[in-house]
Amino acid sequence: MNTDSTVVIRPARNLAGSLGLPGDKSISHRYAMLGAIAQGATKLRNFSSGADCASTLGCLKTLGVEWERTDGAVVIQGLGTKLRPPASALDCGNSGSTMRMLSGILAGQEFASELMGDESLSERPMARIITPLAAMGARITARDGGRPPLRVAGGGLKAIDYQMPVASAQVKTSLLFAGLFAEGETRVEERVRTRDHGELALRAFGAEIRRQKNEVRIAGGQKLRAIEATIPGDPSSAAFFFCAAALFPDSKLMIGQLLMNPTRARLLDLLISMGLGISITQLEEEHGELRGTVQVEGRSLQGTTIAGADTAALIDEIPVLAAIAPYTTGGIEIRDARELRVKESDRIRAVARNLQAMGAEVEEREDGLKIPGGQKLRGAEIDSFGDHRIAMAFAVAGLRAEGETTIRGADRAVISFPAFFEILESLLER
Ligand code: S3P
Repeated sequence: MNTDSTVVIRPARNLAGSLGLPGDKSISHRYAMLGAIAQGATKLRNFSSGADCASTLGCLKTLGVEWERTDGAVVIQGLGTKLRPPASALDCGNSGSTMRMLSGILAGQEFASELMGDESLSERPMARIITPLAAMGARITARDGGRPPLRVAGGGLKAIDYQMPVASAQVKTSLLFAGLFAEGETRVEERVRTRDHGELALRAFGAEIRRQKNEVRIAGGQKLRAIEATIPGDPSSAAFFFCAAALFPDSKLMIGQLLMNPTRARLLDLLISMGLGISITQLEEEHGELRGTVQVEGRSLQGTTIAGADTAALIDEIPVLAAIAPYTTGGIEIRDARELRVKESDRIRAVARNLQAMGAEVEEREDGLKIPGGQKLRGAEIDSFGDHRIAMAFAVAGLRAEGETTIRGADRAVISFPAFFEILESLLER
């Protein structure tokens, strides 16, 4: 990938329009992986267009799973429990979700496999899955006690009772996937509630799963059956447009078929509390996942503090919220966000550096940021730090800056949202 590609963002006057978005990345990964180990053909419409989900499909192919793209859908021929020993390493690209969640399935397979990733993924922490999967009986080795590449030798798993030390839906899902192959009932407890797509996806594919407060249980030995699904639009991609709309008091935006799962919709509550006009209509549910049409009307935006469980619920949306924080009246303070330092980039540092480049005052803290409101930004040269969400967040910040903003490494948007810049441009009024 050419990380030197640049996009120039010119200031805009307003934003208006209606659109639909590519399927949610978290759900696309999970449905693809479960489709691979289900019985029958799984048909997924509106599958995520991002390179991360293509990495998952690529790994599945290396594991002997046949799939094809037909009529805008991905059709996966499930192998029913047993994947094939791979002839080469599994390339997870930039995708932590692929590596962590697929490891759960590979822990249950009677063969050894290697998972590798790009430069950024090779630095991301994997001990969080290695420790519990090893406790279930998988033999896993990694570089430097916990960095990719990983070698997973699976089979002979036993259920565990596990309290997760980090709030991570990827880890929770990985353990529930491994639990399918374990003898006994696996129990995962989380201190902070994280997105529940793993639980809902397992249920959709026919598994029995029990949830009580912050704990989830799954019995081993269950068989999955294929599903047909239309994946709702990705709210973490919608976040860039919502925040762009929030910059202009006259903006009007409508996004249809958007994922409204309560564990992912915290941004809407937050933007309402900050003053944005938001209405939701046409709510429907498919396979337990809520979706609806969201209409947004711009108004002047107040400040807020994001901390505790809210930080976990908004983890992927914090970069763009931080990028628009200087334009709010009261500023935004972000706390309890140490996890942001081990995402596709160190997102606390990346946000602080780029806001400073645009002339903003910002306080960088070990586990967060404090960004005063009422500031004016000037166009600057922005470094994406190789991170899709940083590239897109600062494209949004540039819309109200004085002068042009140049986003270096803008093509990283392909990781989750290849059409981002095109769609953004089509909504702007200048
Ligand atoms: C995801 C969980 C989150 C999120 C990531 C997708 C998922 O990561 O940041 O983009 O699909 O489960 P963590 O599990 O590391 O919190």
